Amino acid sequence: MLPNEFLFAVIHLSAFVSGHICVEQQPTIVHLTEGENVTLSCHIRADEGEKISKFRVEWYIEGADGQLHEVGNLSQLRGRLHEKANSNQQSASLSLSSLKLNDTGKYFCNFIYQIDQKILQLYANGTSLIVQEEVTTETTILSTTNNAGNNTDADTENNVTENVLLTFLLSLPLSLKFVATVFICFYTLFSYTSTFISCPGLLRNVR
Ligand SMILES: *[C@@H]1O[C@H](CO)[C@@H](O)[C@H](O)[C@H]1NC(C)=O
Ligand SMILES: *[C@@H]1O[C@H](CO)[C@@H](O)[C@H](O)[C@H]1NC(C)=O
Ligand SMILES: *[C@@H]1O[C@H](CO)[C@@H](O)[C@H](O)[C@H]1NC(C)=O
Ligand SMILES: *[C@@H]1O[C@H](CO)[C@@H](O)[C@H](O)[C@H]1NC(C)=O
Ligand SMILES: *[C@@H]1O[C@H](CO)[C@@H](O)[C@H](O)[C@H]1NC(C)=O
Ligand SMILES: *[C@@H]1O[C@H](CO)[C@@H](O)[C@H](O)[C@H]1NC(C)=O
Repeated sequence: MLPNEFLFAVIHLSAFVSGHICVEQQPTIVHLTEGENVTLSCHIRADEGEKISKFRVEWYIEGADGQLHEVGNLSQLRGRLHEKANSNQQSASLSLSSLKLNDTGKYFCNFIYQIDQKILQLYANGTSLIVQEEVTTETTILSTTNNAGNNTDADTENNVTENVLLTFLLSLPLSLKFVATVFICFYTLFSYTSTFISCPGLLRNVR
Protein backbone atom coordinates (compact mmCIF):
# COMPACT_ATOMS: atom_id res chain seq x y z
CA MET A 1 0.00 0.00 0.00
CA LEU A 2 1.38 3.36 -0.99
CA PRO A 3 -0.15 6.64 0.11
CA ASN A 4 -1.34 8.98 -2.61
CA GLU A 5 1.18 11.65 -1.64
CA PHE A 6 3.89 9.16 -2.42
CA LEU A 7 2.38 8.45 -5.83
CA PHE A 8 2.34 12.13 -6.73
CA ALA A 9 5.82 12.58 -5.33
CA VAL A 10 6.98 9.72 -7.55
CA ILE A 11 5.26 11.22 -10.60
CA HIS A 12 6.92 14.57 -9.99
CA LEU A 13 10.29 13.03 -9.24
CA SER A 14 10.13 10.84 -12.35
CA ALA A 15 9.09 13.77 -14.48
CA PHE A 16 12.13 15.61 -13.18
CA VAL A 17 14.57 12.74 -13.54
CA SER A 18 13.36 11.52 -16.92
CA GLY A 19 11.89 14.45 -18.75
CA HIS A 20 11.80 12.67 -22.08
CA ILE A 21 9.98 9.58 -20.95
CA CYS A 22 6.29 9.11 -20.40
CA VAL A 23 3.92 6.26 -19.75
CA GLU A 24 0.66 6.24 -21.64
CA GLN A 25 -2.25 4.23 -20.35
CA GLN A 26 -5.35 3.29 -22.38
CA PRO A 27 -8.24 3.78 -22.02
CA THR A 28 -8.55 6.72 -19.64
CA ILE A 29 -12.12 5.81 -18.72
CA VAL A 30 -14.23 2.74 -19.46
CA HIS A 31 -17.85 1.87 -18.63
CA LEU A 32 -18.67 -1.83 -18.63
CA THR A 33 -21.31 -4.20 -17.36
CA GLU A 34 -20.95 -6.93 -14.73
CA GLY A 35 -19.53 -10.14 -16.16
CA GLU A 36 -17.67 -8.46 -19.03
CA ASN A 37 -13.89 -8.47 -19.47
CA VAL A 38 -11.56 -5.51 -19.78
CA THR A 39 -7.98 -5.02 -20.92
CA LEU A 40 -5.94 -2.01 -19.86
CA SER A 41 -2.71 -1.26 -21.63
CA CYS A 42 0.36 0.80 -20.90
CA HIS A 43 3.17 1.87 -23.12
CA ILE A 44 6.42 3.58 -22.17
CA ARG A 45 7.71 6.15 -24.63
CA ALA A 46 11.25 7.38 -24.54
CA ASP A 47 13.09 9.87 -26.71
CA GLU A 48 15.55 8.40 -29.17
CA GLY A 49 18.50 9.25 -26.95
CA GLU A 50 17.08 7.28 -24.01
CA LYS A 51 17.63 3.55 -24.13
CA ILE A 52 15.43 1.51 -21.81
CA SER A 53 17.34 -1.70 -21.25
CA LYS A 54 14.90 -3.47 -18.96
CA PHE A 55 11.50 -2.90 -17.48
CA ARG A 56 8.78 -4.52 -15.46
CA VAL A 57 5.27 -3.33 -14.77
CA GLU A 58 3.18 -3.36 -11.61
CA TRP A 59 -0.54 -2.66 -11.59
CA TYR A 60 -2.26 -0.83 -8.78
CA ILE A 61 -5.81 0.03 -7.85
CA GLU A 62 -6.66 3.09 -5.82
CA GLY A 63 -8.76 2.08 -2.84
CA ALA A 64 -11.64 4.06 -1.35
CA ASP A 65 -9.11 5.20 1.29
CA GLY A 66 -7.00 6.80 -1.46
CA GLN A 67 -4.24 4.25 -1.02
CA LEU A 68 -2.79 2.16 -3.81
CA HIS A 69 -3.06 -1.61 -3.60
CA GLU A 70 -1.19 -3.94 -5.87
CA VAL A 71 -3.87 -5.78 -7.86
CA GLY A 72 -2.24 -9.17 -7.33
CA ASN A 73 -2.57 -8.72 -3.57
CA LEU A 74 -6.33 -8.36 -3.60
CA SER A 75 -8.24 -11.53 -2.88
CA GLN A 76 -11.37 -10.33 -4.71
CA LEU A 77 -9.37 -10.10 -7.97
CA ARG A 78 -7.61 -13.42 -7.58
CA GLY A 79 -8.12 -15.76 -10.51
CA ARG A 80 -9.57 -13.00 -12.70
CA LEU A 81 -6.32 -11.21 -13.53
CA HIS A 82 -4.03 -11.71 -16.46
CA GLU A 83 -0.88 -9.62 -16.81
CA LYS A 84 1.24 -9.47 -19.94
CA ALA A 85 4.34 -7.58 -20.95
CA ASN A 86 5.79 -7.11 -24.40
CA SER A 87 9.43 -6.14 -24.20
CA ASN A 88 9.78 -5.37 -27.92
CA GLN A 89 6.92 -2.90 -27.85
CA GLN A 90 7.77 -1.70 -24.34
CA SER A 91 4.17 -2.20 -23.39
CA ALA A 92 2.15 -4.15 -20.89
CA SER A 93 -1.47 -5.06 -20.34
CA LEU A 94 -3.75 -6.08 -17.55
CA SER A 95 -6.89 -8.09 -18.26
CA LEU A 96 -9.68 -8.47 -15.76
CA SER A 97 -12.38 -11.02 -16.49
CA SER A 98 -15.92 -11.50 -15.14
CA LEU A 99 -16.12 -7.95 -13.88
CA LYS A 100 -17.92 -7.33 -10.59
CA LEU A 101 -19.56 -4.13 -9.41
CA ASN A 102 -16.89 -3.60 -6.79
CA ASP A 103 -14.08 -3.80 -9.38
CA THR A 104 -15.03 -0.18 -10.05
CA GLY A 105 -12.05 2.05 -9.36
CA LYS A 106 -8.97 3.72 -10.75
CA TYR A 107 -6.22 1.46 -12.03
CA PHE A 108 -2.62 2.55 -12.56
CA CYS A 109 0.34 0.92 -14.18
CA ASN A 110 3.77 1.58 -12.79
CA PHE A 111 6.73 1.10 -15.09
CA ILE A 112 9.96 0.25 -13.33
CA TYR A 113 12.70 0.62 -15.90
CA GLN A 114 16.42 0.85 -16.29
CA ILE A 115 18.37 3.45 -18.24
CA ASP A 116 22.16 3.57 -18.04
CA GLN A 117 22.27 1.49 -14.87
CA LYS A 118 19.72 3.82 -13.27
CA ILE A 119 16.50 2.25 -12.05
CA LEU A 120 13.56 4.59 -12.29
CA GLN A 121 9.82 4.26 -12.04
CA LEU A 122 6.96 6.10 -13.62
CA TYR A 123 3.22 5.87 -13.05
CA ALA A 124 0.71 6.41 -15.81
CA ASN A 125 -2.31 8.67 -15.40
CA GLY A 126 -4.60 5.72 -14.78
CA THR A 127 -7.84 4.23 -16.06
CA SER A 128 -11.18 4.83 -14.38
CA LEU A 129 -13.11 1.59 -14.61
CA ILE A 130 -16.84 1.81 -13.95
CA VAL A 131 -18.72 -1.46 -13.71
CA GLN A 132 -22.47 -1.11 -14.02
CA GLU A 133 -25.21 -3.46 -12.96
CA GLU A 134 -26.59 -5.67 -15.66
CA VAL A 135 -30.06 -4.38 -16.50
CA THR A 136 -32.53 -7.04 -17.54
CA THR A 137 -36.33 -6.97 -17.48
CA GLU A 138 -36.22 -9.59 -14.74
CA THR A 139 -34.06 -7.52 -12.38
CA THR A 140 -36.20 -4.45 -13.07
CA ILE A 141 -39.33 -6.30 -11.98
CA LEU A 142 -37.44 -7.80 -9.03
CA SER A 143 -36.14 -4.42 -7.91
CA THR A 144 -39.55 -2.75 -8.11
CA THR A 145 -41.20 -5.44 -6.00
CA ASN A 146 -38.29 -5.62 -3.54
CA ASN A 147 -38.07 -1.88 -3.31
CA ALA A 148 -39.19 -0.73 0.12
CA GLY A 149 -38.51 3.00 0.05
CA ASN A 150 -39.55 4.16 -3.38
CA ASN A 151 -43.03 4.44 -4.82
CA THR A 152 -42.67 2.58 -8.06
CA ASP A 153 -45.37 2.01 -10.63
CA ALA A 154 -45.94 -1.52 -9.36
CA ASP A 155 -46.40 -0.33 -5.76
CA THR A 156 -48.79 2.40 -6.78
CA GLU A 157 -50.84 -0.02 -8.86
CA ASN A 158 -51.02 -2.49 -5.98
CA ASN A 159 -52.11 0.26 -3.65
CA VAL A 160 -54.82 1.43 -6.05
CA THR A 161 -56.43 -2.02 -6.15
CA GLU A 162 -55.83 -2.42 -2.40
CA ASN A 163 -57.41 0.96 -1.72
CA VAL A 164 -60.45 0.27 -3.89
CA LEU A 165 -61.02 -3.03 -2.10
CA LEU A 166 -60.46 -1.41 1.30
CA THR A 167 -62.86 1.44 0.52
CA PHE A 168 -65.48 -1.03 -0.66
CA LEU A 169 -65.12 -3.19 2.46
CA LEU A 170 -65.19 -0.18 4.79
CA SER A 171 -68.22 1.29 3.06
CA LEU A 172 -70.10 -2.02 2.98
CA PRO A 173 -71.77 -1.65 6.44
CA LEU A 174 -72.63 1.95 5.59
CA SER A 175 -74.09 0.91 2.25
CA LEU A 176 -76.10 -1.85 3.93
CA LYS A 177 -77.34 0.67 6.50
CA PHE A 178 -78.28 3.02 3.67
CA VAL A 179 -80.15 0.28 1.82
CA ALA A 180 -81.90 -0.74 5.04
CA THR A 181 -82.86 2.87 5.80
CA VAL A 182 -84.23 3.36 2.32
CA PHE A 183 -86.08 0.10 2.60
CA ILE A 184 -87.50 1.01 6.01
CA CYS A 185 -88.52 4.45 4.72
CA PHE A 186 -90.33 3.00 1.77
CA TYR A 187 -91.83 0.28 3.91
CA THR A 188 -93.02 2.81 6.48
CA LEU A 189 -94.35 5.10 3.79
CA PHE A 190 -96.08 2.20 2.14
CA SER A 191 -97.61 1.00 5.41
CA TYR A 192 -98.76 4.54 6.18
CA THR A 193 -100.22 4.83 2.73
CA SER A 194 -101.95 1.49 3.02
CA THR A 195 -103.09 2.37 6.55
CA PHE A 196 -104.34 5.66 5.19
CA ILE A 197 -106.18 3.91 2.44
CA SER A 198 -107.51 1.00 4.47
CA CYS A 199 -108.35 2.78 7.71
CA PRO A 200 -108.23 6.61 7.61
CA GLY A 201 -109.47 6.81 11.20
CA LEU A 202 -106.41 5.10 12.58
CA LEU A 203 -104.07 7.53 10.76
CA ARG A 204 -105.90 10.47 12.25
CA ASN A 205 -105.49 8.90 15.69
CA VAL A 206 -101.73 8.47 15.21
CA ARG A 207 -101.35 12.10 14.24
C1 LIG B 1 1.69 -7.20 -1.88
O1 LIG B 1 2.00 -8.36 -1.08
C2 LIG B 1 3.36 -8.55 -0.87
C3 LIG B 1 3.53 -9.84 -0.09
O2 LIG B 1 2.58 -10.77 -0.46
C4 LIG B 1 3.95 -7.37 -0.11
O3 LIG B 1 5.33 -7.54 0.03
C5 LIG B 1 3.68 -6.09 -0.88
O4 LIG B 1 4.11 -4.98 -0.11
C6 LIG B 1 2.21 -5.95 -1.17
N1 LIG B 1 2.04 -4.78 -2.01
C7 LIG B 1 1.11 -3.87 -1.80
C8 LIG B 1 1.14 -2.70 -2.69
O5 LIG B 1 0.27 -3.96 -0.91
C1 LIG C 1 -1.29 12.97 -17.48
O1 LIG C 1 -2.07 14.03 -16.94
C2 LIG C 1 -1.42 15.29 -17.03
C3 LIG C 1 -2.28 16.31 -16.31
O2 LIG C 1 -3.61 15.89 -16.19
C4 LIG C 1 -1.16 15.66 -18.48
O3 LIG C 1 -0.51 16.89 -18.57
C5 LIG C 1 -0.30 14.59 -19.12
O4 LIG C 1 -0.16 14.86 -20.50
C6 LIG C 1 -0.94 13.22 -18.94
N1 LIG C 1 0.01 12.21 -19.38
C7 LIG C 1 -0.30 11.29 -20.29
C8 LIG C 1 0.79 10.34 -20.64
O5 LIG C 1 -1.40 11.20 -20.79
C1 LIG D 1 -13.58 -13.22 -20.61
O1 LIG D 1 -12.39 -13.83 -20.18
C2 LIG D 1 -12.53 -15.24 -19.90
C3 LIG D 1 -11.22 -15.73 -19.31
O2 LIG D 1 -10.13 -14.97 -19.68
C4 LIG D 1 -12.90 -15.97 -21.19
O3 LIG D 1 -13.08 -17.32 -20.92
C5 LIG D 1 -14.18 -15.36 -21.73
O4 LIG D 1 -14.49 -15.94 -22.97
C6 LIG D 1 -14.05 -13.86 -21.89
N1 LIG D 1 -15.36 -13.32 -22.26
C7 LIG D 1 -15.54 -12.43 -23.22
C8 LIG D 1 -16.94 -11.95 -23.44
O5 LIG D 1 -14.61 -12.02 -23.92
C1 LIG E 1 -17.25 -7.85 -4.34
O1 LIG E 1 -18.50 -8.35 -4.79
C2 LIG E 1 -18.60 -9.77 -4.78
C3 LIG E 1 -19.96 -10.14 -5.33
O2 LIG E 1 -20.20 -9.52 -6.56
C4 LIG E 1 -18.42 -10.29 -3.37
O3 LIG E 1 -18.43 -11.70 -3.39
C5 LIG E 1 -17.09 -9.80 -2.80
O4 LIG E 1 -16.99 -10.18 -1.44
C6 LIG E 1 -16.99 -8.29 -2.90
N1 LIG E 1 -15.67 -7.89 -2.46
C7 LIG E 1 -15.46 -6.82 -1.72
C8 LIG E 1 -14.05 -6.55 -1.34
O5 LIG E 1 -16.36 -6.07 -1.39
C1 LIG F 1 -35.13 5.47 -4.58
O1 LIG F 1 -34.84 6.03 -5.84
C2 LIG F 1 -33.69 6.86 -5.86
C3 LIG F 1 -33.53 7.43 -7.26
O2 LIG F 1 -34.78 7.65 -7.84
C4 LIG F 1 -32.48 6.04 -5.45
O3 LIG F 1 -31.33 6.88 -5.40
C5 LIG F 1 -32.70 5.41 -4.10
O4 LIG F 1 -31.60 4.56 -3.78
C6 LIG F 1 -33.98 4.59 -4.11
N1 LIG F 1 -34.25 4.06 -2.79
C7 LIG F 1 -34.52 2.76 -2.57
C8 LIG F 1 -34.78 2.37 -1.16
O5 LIG F 1 -34.55 1.94 -3.49
C1 LIG G 1 -48.55 1.11 -0.63
O1 LIG G 1 -48.79 0.02 0.23
C2 LIG G 1 -47.68 -0.32 1.06
C3 LIG G 1 -48.07 -1.54 1.86
O2 LIG G 1 -48.90 -2.39 1.13
C4 LIG G 1 -47.33 0.87 1.93
O3 LIG G 1 -46.16 0.56 2.70
C5 LIG G 1 -47.06 2.08 1.10
O4 LIG G 1 -46.80 3.20 1.93
C6 LIG G 1 -48.23 2.36 0.19
N1 LIG G 1 -47.94 3.50 -0.68
C7 LIG G 1 -48.82 4.45 -0.94
C8 LIG G 1 -48.40 5.49 -1.90
O5 LIG G 1 -49.93 4.46 -0.44
